[in-house]
Amino acid sequence: MALTTLIKALPKAELHLHIEGTLSPTLMWELAQKHGIQLPFQSVAEIETAYQFSDLQSFLDLYYAGADVLREEDDFYQLMKAYLLRCKENNIVHTEIMFDPQTHTHRGVAFDVFMTGFLRAITEAKTDWGVSVRLIMSFLRHLSEADAIQTLQDAEPWYDIIDAVGLDSSELGNPPEKFERVFSQARAIGFKVVAHAGEEGPPDYIWQAINLLGIDRIDHGVRCAEDKELMALIKHRQIPLTVCPLSNLKLKVIEDMAAHNILDLLEDGLLVTVNSDDPTYFGGFLNENFMALETALGMTEQQCRQLVKNSFKASFLPDGDKQKWLAQVDEI
Ligand code: ADE
Ligand code: ZN
Repeated sequence: MALTTLIKALPKAELHLHIEGTLSPTLMWELAQKHGIQLPFQSVAEIETAYQFSDLQSFLDLYYAGADVLREEDDFYQLMKAYLLRCKENNIVHTEIMFDPQTHTHRGVAFDVFMTGFLRAITEAKTDWGVSVRLIMSFLRHLSEADAIQTLQDAEPWYDIIDAVGLDSSELGNPPEKFERVFSQARAIGFKVVAHAGEEGPPDYIWQAINLLGIDRIDHGVRCAEDKELMALIKHRQIPLTVCPLSNLKLKVIEDMAAHNILDLLEDGLLVTVNSDDPTYFGGFLNENFMALETALGMTEQQCRQLVKNSFKASFLPDGDKQKWLAQVDEI
């Protein structure tokens, strides 16, 4: 079977995906019209051509501006439903989705507005397409820890449907240590914890995420390769890295895809996974990220299968479900 066919055929899990990063230019345009919002663009095509970034911050500026079109329950429903349809098309059978409450609450959009919209779409997708979903509530690290603590409290009515907390937004200058207390509170409540670290930030931020936040997974983490001792620890503990190849390329974490270290990390025995991060902004959903590894790095079938298996191993699914999916991967 050709590798492209295999990529499409394999059941996969996605573990690093920001729902706000799945807003398509078309939906952005439609929602702006619906709410009478003046966008700084004259057409859908103009939005598409604006998706050129020099670094993480240049992307985040556009990403937060784009999220402003999300105002009502149905907007969040449409956003989530569109991504879950992509899951069906990409054969993503399980997805662990990050959402950024502060991006919405700071604009006066209340928790129950976005949560009910998300839940309606998730319930439909589970019933109609069998997609399994977990939610990760991410704190914005450019805001204060007090704001994150308030957000954790505000989320209380929704604790039953949230599985984990995360940490995202502008990494440089906002180290994990800034959020030690809120992560400790989240762990005490029983949440799993993840954090973006080592995307643009130095290996020290990954050390902090492990030692101070007690993370279960690292989002990105590709800069761990600069620190041999850190690499050895991540390997020894099999701490998963949720790597996002097209994102790294678009945000200039790497100069070109041929320079990506994901397969080196895999061959070194690290538990790395492939993910799409903010697919509508970075030019591809999950299967396109796998295909980029085939095209630019010559990913083999065996490496592809291992990356897909890692996505289930690194997930927050119960062991029985993990085993079921791992066996299904072997059957294809
Ligand atoms: N928010 C959405 N995508 C992000 C990324 N790649 N890094 C940090 N924050 C983000
Ligand atoms: Zn991310």
